[in-house]
Amino acid sequence: MRSRTQRAGAAAVDMSVQIGSVCLPAPLMTAAGTAGYGSELSAFMDLSALGAVVVKSLSADEWAGNPAPRVHETPAGMLNSVGLQGPGVAAWREHELPELIETGARVVVSIWGRSVQDYARAAEALQDCPKQVVAVEVNLSCPNLDGGTHLFAHDPVATAQVLQATSQIGLPLWAKLSPNTDRLVEVAAAAQEAGAEAVTLINTVLGMIIDTESRRPLLGGGGGGLSGPAIRPVAVRAIHDVHVALPDLPIVGVGGCATAVDAVELMLAGASAVQIGTANFVQPSSVEQVQDDLRHWCFSHGVPRVSELTGGVKH
Ligand code: FUM
Repeated sequence: MRSRTQRAGAAAVDMSVQIGSVCLPAPLMTAAGTAGYGSELSAFMDLSALGAVVVKSLSADEWAGNPAPRVHETPAGMLNSVGLQGPGVAAWREHELPELIETGARVVVSIWGRSVQDYARAAEALQDCPKQVVAVEVNLSCPNLDGGTHLFAHDPVATAQVLQATSQIGLPLWAKLSPNTDRLVEVAAAAQEAGAEAVTLINTVLGMIIDTESRRPLLGGGGGGLSGPAIRPVAVRAIHDVHVALPDLPIVGVGGCATAVDAVELMLAGASAVQIGTANFVQPSSVEQVQDDLRHWCFSHGVPRVSELTGGVKH
């Protein structure tokens, strides 16, 4: 139970963050693919209190995704192979976006494609979105398409091509990148050069589970992407290395964050804001709880502005 003094002190902490041209009143967001396409989580928390809601990645066309089973719990997280199932941008705009906007949330739309042209079409379908759509997260790093062989984010040239092709939309672009490459810094630099205002680090780690009785892969898609607490050190390292190499490139941190202390760790590594993913499946109100706890952490540690944490790791 917090005292009135603690609550008043925490309320005075400046939680606003700047990500390129986007100013958010708070640093916590849902991670793409863990909070549905619209207002689903509004039953559990006030979505307008978050920095933003990031919706599951959408392509220009409806897409059925991978065969079941699609998720499996692991000792410290989960493996997924959803395969980017989605209704397509136009149907989402018609059926999901209006209700999401009614919640007062700021919206970040995640888009994906199989080709540069696909990404361009998805971006085109987002033209003239309502002002509540504050940014587009370009997902270049899903490990579940075509058996994980198709990751734009493993190639600086392909990454740049996608960002150039989506820049026509005129909304801030955040490039969601992959930890499954030793070229992460190079890819992040290419994304920045091609117009990304920020990078989102990291997507899931390539993984696989085999059912020892049937001797078959347990997930319908074969392999999958590992998320949850198991990958937090991978995220911290990726964020740190990119922040050191490219200090002017804002980073949205994601990967195994489930508590305020986890969020502080990602921010000290270099993140300007933090997304919560797998924890939403454990506790749907996680994002709001982490944000509130982060505010109190800042107060109890004498941090008047949460943005001061970014890149604050000492060497
Ligand atoms: O399979 C999926 O839908 C996962 C997407 C992602 O990790 O970007």
